[in-house]
Amino acid sequence: MISHFRDEHTRRVFLCTSAAVGLTLGCGGGSGSEPEAFGSVAAGNVNAFPVGTLLAVAGAPVILGRDAGGLYAMTSTCTHEGCDMAAEGSIGANGVYCGCHGSRFDVNGAVVQGPANVPLAHFAVSVDAAGNVTVDGSAKVSASMRALPA
Ligand code: FES
Repeated sequence: MISHFRDEHTRRVFLCTSAAVGLTLGCGGGSGSEPEAFGSVAAGNVNAFPVGTLLAVAGAPVILGRDAGGLYAMTSTCTHEGCDMAAEGSIGANGVYCGCHGSRFDVNGAVVQGPANVPLAHFAVSVDAAGNVTVDGSAKVSASMRALPA
């Protein structure tokens, strides 16, 4: 499954590179790439995510964060030209950096520095009674949405 995402990403980077020579294939150019699609993914136990955490989730192009309001998830796909920032950049308590062209996002996915000019999409997060965290990659939510441990 992981290799599927990587292969899809590689294909998209190739297509976007081709676009640079004159084709228009829906690649960023600052106008905003859609996040890579994924379904529900287990993100671990809530105890692994103290307030102030921002980490890439293994097996899906998603970042899980926790602030004083609760847990939230957002895409790790850069909105500029679609690089996976978990693989080509950095994710940490200071925000998200894209190593492809230098875009920076704050810990809630807002653009801090271009060329990206679209914030990171957020996805629904749920936490069961045992503290298991699930991210639903098919359900986009507001950037202010938070999930609380049961
Ligand atoms: S893909 Fe260009 S800055 Fe991320």
